[in-house]
Amino acid sequence: MPRPTEATIVLDALRANLALARAHAPNSKCWAVVKANAYGHGLERVLPALAQADGLALIEFGQACRLRELGWKKRILMLEGAFDAADTAAARAHALDLVVHCEEQLGWLAESPGDGPPVHTFAKFDSGLNRLGFDSASLRWAHARLSAMPAVRSVALMAHFANADLAGGADESMELFAAATVGLAGEVSLANSAAVLSVPRARRDWIRPGIMLYGGSPFAQHSAADLGLAATMVLRTRVLARRVLQPGDAVGYGSLFRASEPMPIAVVACGYADGYPRHAPSGTPVLVDGMPSTTLGRVAMDLLMIDLRQCPSAGVGSVVELWGDKLPIDAVAQSAGTIGYELMCALAPRVAVRVEALSAQSGAL
Ligand SMILES: Cc1ncc(COP(=O)(O)O)c(C=O)c1O
Repeated sequence: MPRPTEATIVLDALRANLALARAHAPNSKCWAVVKANAYGHGLERVLPALAQADGLALIEFGQACRLRELGWKKRILMLEGAFDAADTAAARAHALDLVVHCEEQLGWLAESPGDGPPVHTFAKFDSGLNRLGFDSASLRWAHARLSAMPAVRSVALMAHFANADLAGGADESMELFAAATVGLAGEVSLANSAAVLSVPRARRDWIRPGIMLYGGSPFAQHSAADLGLAATMVLRTRVLARRVLQPGDAVGYGSLFRASEPMPIAVVACGYADGYPRHAPSGTPVLVDGMPSTTLGRVAMDLLMIDLRQCPSAGVGSVVELWGDKLPIDAVAQSAGTIGYELMCALAPRVAVRVEALSAQSGAL
């Protein structure tokens, strides 16, 4: 008997979220961001739902090569570029576009042997995150160097916003980018999900939505449903045991919750080793047989407990939704002091995954 903890990946929802991203930027091409194993959903699993993307963007070279093996023929963008000279060679061998954010990456490309076709590059401007990218002076120098390299087929320009999820939060970065790129030729890619949804002038040649494809909201103040996004990951399990606490009884490690009245509780087959956040406090929302309830006490490795006072008919075998189409992952994340991105990415390998297939085919990859 397998453990009853199961994630369902809903491909129709993913395809609809991609269509929504494209509808916000009808004149842009779209990189679907699939790093971190498609935000925890499984790269291979989600591929059929992304057939309408113009390209896939990720970080991991092994996964990018796998995409080619799986038959993805369109563009693939390596969002952090090459990590060494061997990656640069792999990019040429597998037609992977490279972000170039530092001098070392320029060097690997410059020294890359003549065999293999040249690659598309995206010179990255640091517009305020102060992580990866060139400042304005070195961007011009990098652009000129790339433009002169035999290993380079095209030079585009990109930046990644620090604050696009806040009202007006992309303004300063947009101005810095505009000033830094005056007179530089090439396509431009700026918009992550937050900018796709809320910063029209950031929708340039290529958009780069990630979280919105997976049904998560990039904004603290707007729910995914308000944005028209559908949940792509549903995490469900079942009640393993039902018991009744008496006043004064505590539940779970650390005895963090203590009953003040007689109350039914359920012990549920999900814990932090499944990817449920250990920091979720008592009161984090769950659904039991579709009825709203909350967690109680500390989340353990394999188990968590929930309050059955609002759903007294629930018992062993009742279905518990931890997050999904009826319970937004962002609501659970907010209660646990994190973001939906982290919960999706943390889905643990031991959780069984079921894929809800596309209701109709979307075309060739
Ligand atoms: C360079 C880059 N572009 C686009 C994205 C997609 O961002 P989001 O998931 O917020 O849409 C990411 C994700 O962090 C990123 O690192």
